[in-house]
Amino acid sequence: MAGEKILIADDEKSMCQYLSIMLKKEGYFVKTVHNGQKAVQEAQSSNYDVVITDIRMEGMDGIEVLGAIKETDPALPVIIMTAYASQKTAIEALNKGAFYYLIKRAAKNEEIKMVVRNALDMHKVKNENVFLKKQLKKKDTPKEIIGKSEEIERVFGLVDKVADTDSTILVCGESGTGKELVARAIHYRSGRSNAPFVSINCGALPENLLESELFGHVKGSFTGAIKDKDGLFKVASGGTFFLDEVGETSPAIQVKLLRVLQEREIIPVGGTSPIKVSARLIAATNADLEKAVHAETFRADLYYRLNVIPITIPPLRHRRDDIPLLVNHFLRMTSEKTGRNKTISNEAMELLKNYDWPGNVRELENIIERAVILQDGDHVDLCDLPDKIRLQSKEKRKIVMDKAQMTLEELEKEYLISVLEESNWQKKRASSILGINASTLYRKIQRYGLDRDRDKVLV
Ligand SMILES: Nc1ncnc2c1ncn2[C@@H]1O[C@H](COP(=O)(O)OP(=O)(O)OP(=O)(O)O)[C@@H](O)[C@H]1O
Ligand SMILES: [Mg+2]
Repeated sequence: MAGEKILIADDEKSMCQYLSIMLKKEGYFVKTVHNGQKAVQEAQSSNYDVVITDIRMEGMDGIEVLGAIKETDPALPVIIMTAYASQKTAIEALNKGAFYYLIKRAAKNEEIKMVVRNALDMHKVKNENVFLKKQLKKKDTPKEIIGKSEEIERVFGLVDKVADTDSTILVCGESGTGKELVARAIHYRSGRSNAPFVSINCGALPENLLESELFGHVKGSFTGAIKDKDGLFKVASGGTFFLDEVGETSPAIQVKLLRVLQEREIIPVGGTSPIKVSARLIAATNADLEKAVHAETFRADLYYRLNVIPITIPPLRHRRDDIPLLVNHFLRMTSEKTGRNKTISNEAMELLKNYDWPGNVRELENIIERAVILQDGDHVDLCDLPDKIRLQSKEKRKIVMDKAQMTLEELEKEYLISVLEESNWQKKRASSILGINASTLYRKIQRYGLDRDRDKVLV
């Protein structure tokens, strides 16, 4: 891959020029400096992939340059060059971590190119190792997606179909439904699974920080930019980039994202040269982006570029068949973590099956973990569940009881309100659920004086 950055330090300007021309022809970006101090400053403030330094220079010599670089960036390969071959300095350089020892003028062009190539390969492997170790620490292994409901089976089917394509995916769903889990599943089932899965939460960072995280920045582009920094789009090269809460991005960032999707390239903040993007993009949102497009808070052109393949994860209350499986899965997981084997009573399971789960699977996971930790025996029971779950169940029973006392008209009104709420007051959708035409629905809304803001359903 061309474009790697090489720093050359030599007080002999003709040597710098000679190497620079040769390596630029190979497609590398080359910077030359003429003394040791400058070499160290430059290496520490910018992201180089290889440093080539002469040994004999005024002030700081090549061996000192090597020492200073290894202190701050041990993975950066340093090739030492000398005009005066000496076994002693060669051994010293290699002992201090030099990648190679080149004898000026004796070294043929092909040898220099090969040494540089090898150093670049080693640097790449080292960088990947650092990344993989970080990922391991974060326990970045694919988690199982639990579920057998028709709704989740549909999601599984889509994941399998899209995994091996490069299409952009938009994962939609309420908070805690498993959007990130699905994005990871797509990554690990794809041919990109050996490259990184990188994620960012667009809602968690202020605009300027988000921009520099996404696209990177060049040194000096703003106060505090003391060093070039790679953006996450670049870090995710060859892998998958997960843009979480994409609906939270500002108009300025939306324009830049649109450009990435159109041109498949990024320009770091303060930079001028574009960098190719090879990561596959998966975006996620818990907002209704179509609505945001209508409200003109989200760009329509970006929405269409992101929404190439939409995957919608239904809320847990719409796939209650998955609840017992998830409860048992999290009981098993928590038991493994805590070493405390627990089962759950039928009554407690019944209550969990009927709860509405506004926080979806994440809420369920937390509640099971809490119950296992707080409960001393080996059986999770009704009393181990939070009050809100027991109260909601009572409230629901009360509504059923109240309904038994209602007139037919009152019941109809109640039912209309709940269907309208369910369909987000979209009259076309509501009338199709109710099995009546839109004008009949309209008449009923008039007759009962229904109003979106006033008539909220209770549960
Ligand atoms: N079907 C599932 N099977 C097993 N675990 C699940 C499932 N769905 C979600 N989880 C777990 O629930 C938690 C929340 O999932 P995730 O972070 O993917 O949700 P999200 O939709 O991205 O949430 P948010 O919108 O809040 O970012 C995670 O710990 C995840 O492992
Ligand atoms: Mg998420």
